[in-house]
Amino acid sequence: MVDPSPAPLSLAPKFAPDRLTLVGVGPGDPELLTVAAVKALEQADVVAHPVAREGESGMALAIALPWLQPQQLLLPLAFPMVAEAEPRISAWHEAADALARHVRTGRRVVLLCEGDVSLFATGSYVQLALRRRHPDLSFALIPGIPSVCAAAAAAAGVAVDLPLALQQEGLLIRPCPETASDFRKLLQSARYASTVLGLIKVGHRWPWVCAALTEMGLLDQALFAQRVGWSDQWVASASQVPPDARPYFSLLLIRQLWPEVLP
Ligand SMILES: C[S@@+](CC[C@H](N)C(=O)[O-])C[C@H]1O[C@@H](n2cnc3c(N)ncnc32)[C@H](O)[C@@H]1O
Repeated sequence: MVDPSPAPLSLAPKFAPDRLTLVGVGPGDPELLTVAAVKALEQADVVAHPVAREGESGMALAIALPWLQPQQLLLPLAFPMVAEAEPRISAWHEAADALARHVRTGRRVVLLCEGDVSLFATGSYVQLALRRRHPDLSFALIPGIPSVCAAAAAAAGVAVDLPLALQQEGLLIRPCPETASDFRKLLQSARYASTVLGLIKVGHRWPWVCAALTEMGLLDQALFAQRVGWSDQWVASASQVPPDARPYFSLLLIRQLWPEVLP
């Protein structure tokens, strides 16, 4: 006989689409959206999406496109990729205000975010700006598959097994350091702390990163992943990647140690 387990307190879906939802759309493949993300997209009147410059089309929109319908209003929001603070702060404020305006006209609005919505994501800045500038406006977040996780999964497809973390290990996901000396220090501290590294924003840093990995004898312990989930995805041992600059959408997974007890 089935044990009568406690009745659930609420049958409401965990990710019931709100009036405003920040949606992680995964790293590239439209099949890697969650069911919750697809439902939120289907129910949206307005689909906001980040672009680097006005008139451009963004990655997040390209990923979500198969799930969108012609009657939905597309709302590109420009987030300049610059080092200065001011243009970025203005862009976050303008984005939050634009989203709030649409929500206040009674529309259901989604903001698309590439990968996960809380991991090095423009969506996080918009989230903070919304909370400060429109504290009365509630919104929901739907997590997405992070590029680092998608890269570890894609590695198996090229017969490279690189679990992100096992047993007592740590996992550090962060941008690639800016200098070779900081990169070497990071590798040493990660090794000391049994921590696997997921380094994003490798792109144009690859020539000196590759040289440092070679010098430290770590090329074979590193997985390089470029445009994961896209039709031109390239995932390979770092030892197979020529030392030229790579695209912005590239990352490294570095596992220097393995636990003693393994199958
Ligand atoms: C601003 S971060 C966005 C991270 C994203 N929110 C996530 O959850 O993966 C951009 C960096 O993530 C990495 N990245 C994002 N998507 C990627 C993909 N499809 N393939 C490889 N790297 C990717 C790249 O290193 C890129 O420089």
